[in-house]
Amino acid sequence: MTPEEIRGYLEYYRDLGFESIYKRAGAPVAPAAAPLMEAAKPVTLAVLPTLEPEGDTLGKISSDIGDCTRCGLHRGRNKIVFGTGNEASRLVFVGEGPGADEDEQGLPFVGRAGQLLTQMIEGTAAKEGIPIKRGDVYICNVVKCRPPENRTPLPEEMEVCGQFLFRQLMAIKPKAVCALGATAMKALLNAKEGITKSRGRWHKWRDIPVMVTYHPSYLLRQYNQQAKREAWEDLKALLHFVYD
Ligand code: URA
Repeated sequence: MTPEEIRGYLEYYRDLGFESIYKRAGAPVAPAAAPLMEAAKPVTLAVLPTLEPEGDTLGKISSDIGDCTRCGLHRGRNKIVFGTGNEASRLVFVGEGPGADEDEQGLPFVGRAGQLLTQMIEGTAAKEGIPIKRGDVYICNVVKCRPPENRTPLPEEMEVCGQFLFRQLMAIKPKAVCALGATAMKALLNAKEGITKSRGRWHKWRDIPVMVTYHPSYLLRQYNQQAKREAWEDLKALLHFVYD
């Protein structure tokens, strides 16, 4: 591999949000890579699975996750919450991580926030004359195991689990993605600004358009009438973009 090719790979992973450079334990570093690896800090030794295996499928990704113990979140989980919905969907919703109901059922967005998400998707679609139901889209999260006390996932948890989210998106290849809340936005966009600035606008993850909007849990709080109206507007724009 030439230094240019190695640089290309490193830039590719950096664009995906990886901040650490990994090498398989015991594997030699190609002589041409050594100076580049040294320049990129910190260098951590860990096993990094192939990001985008050829012919990747959701089934293969799920079986690669297996009975995962790659980060500390596995200790408190009941079920891994991989994702649900139409595998050939033109639209993918990405949340933060499972809550108690999701952890129990092994399915994303089945608790109160999930019911609101379903209403938002189906209510907006019906009002706009777009014939889709929740089951027509695909729904998943940045992390697949429930964080304790529903805390925000840590950067290292997002980095480890994010590779599976990226593979899910590459396998589905939707026309657009909806990032629900700040964690999904950070995982996909490396965004520097907050959610109120980023929402309602189109961004990109690789070459897939990403609409950012508020997380349904935030909308459930009573004082968020204005945010609710904005989220409905965001969803309307998203559904028209994907299904018109
Ligand atoms: N909140 C999320 O972010 N994801 C879920 O699956 C449920 C609640």
